[in-house]
Amino acid sequence: MLSQQTIDIIKSTVPVLEQHGVTITKTFYSNMLRKHPELLNYFNRANQARERQQTALANTVLAAAKYIDNLQAIVPAVMQIAHKHRGLGILPEHYPIVGENLLAAIKEVLGDAATDEIINAWAEAYGVIADVFISIEEDLYKEAEKDGGWRLFKSFKVARKEEESEEVTSFYLVSEDGEKLPEYKAGQYITVRVKVPGDEYTSNRHYTLSQPSNENEFRISVKREDAVDPRGVVSNYLHEQVNVGDTIEISAPAGLFTLEDNSNPVLFVSGGIGVTPLNTMLQTMELGRQVAFVQCARNEKAVAFKEQIDKKVNELNGTYRVLFSDENGYVTKEDLAPFIKENTEIYICGPAPFMETVISIARELGLPGDNIHFEFFGPAMSLDSL
Ligand code: HEM
Repeated sequence: MLSQQTIDIIKSTVPVLEQHGVTITKTFYSNMLRKHPELLNYFNRANQARERQQTALANTVLAAAKYIDNLQAIVPAVMQIAHKHRGLGILPEHYPIVGENLLAAIKEVLGDAATDEIINAWAEAYGVIADVFISIEEDLYKEAEKDGGWRLFKSFKVARKEEESEEVTSFYLVSEDGEKLPEYKAGQYITVRVKVPGDEYTSNRHYTLSQPSNENEFRISVKREDAVDPRGVVSNYLHEQVNVGDTIEISAPAGLFTLEDNSNPVLFVSGGIGVTPLNTMLQTMELGRQVAFVQCARNEKAVAFKEQIDKKVNELNGTYRVLFSDENGYVTKEDLAPFIKENTEIYICGPAPFMETVISIARELGLPGDNIHFEFFGPAMSLDSL
């Protein structure tokens, strides 16, 4: 239990953190990774280079500071992060390393303004926040181990490799020990851990399971990230160097972006590779449920899963539209309005700017927040949902 004095100090430091938040976390990351290079086995260096992780952590620290006397309010946001941490194999012993380096960075950046009182208050508060994460993550590890699952990583063999489009390839994965696979929900992901030749450290990436749950194999569908800087190290490695018969390590399924269990009409709106969780959800839908699928892609060549989506949407008597941004730009209100009724559940997945556009269209068309479901690929940028 934090004292009122500690709570007051934490709350009064929020404006300072808001000013320096990103500088603090940048200092924190570079110092921590210099002192503990073994943590490079966990952190995505491409996200570091693009400064995405720094923003995510800075926002989370600020959110925690604002809600320090009501941490219950941040549990939904923590759950999302905890699923990612669990997939990555983050353990309780990692938390003191993060805490120590975060405090040292606050001191370094704030200089004399960071009094002992402030630092001690933050040390206490960090301890409380870390305990929330550790306890939620332990529950998730226990959950992951149930019914054929496992705690950290397990070896899988590539059974088949199939091209879905010019830039997307599916990998079918079977467990090396021949055990049956745990059941998962459409929309969940696994974390792939690989050692790319020439790299001293392991790399981890989350990939959506791209077909409905079955006890024999997992399927992931990987987009080759060629156009981004730095070039997608893991996606290119998987495409170019991982072949049938090769082994990769994966976590048990994780994630919270799944279909709501009700009979409301569903509208799926995907941008680019964001189609993977939405197609998996679609494939699990039962006859009688109303569905529309709006798939956005740059052009014809970049469209993945077209046949599968078309077939299933037809079975469900739904509507399927493919929109090309090279020709028409982003999806508009007019494109989506015909598919939105009062009780429609909209599921959105794609790159951040695309998602922002679609979420604001859904709101403009009157959908309540509870009916708008989305997942950012890459670190969630903010905790605005609080
Ligand atoms: C991801 C917050 C502790 C390692 C994240 C994300 C947030 C976050 C907001 C982004 C989630 C997303 O992808 O949407 C925090 C907070 C912590 C904490 C508030 C402490 C209370 C730790 C610890 C470790 C760790 C102790 C291990 C050393 C990671 C890694 C990622 C991640 C490897 C994936 C991000 C990437 O590499 O792109 N964390 N985290 N975190 N966290 Fe933490």
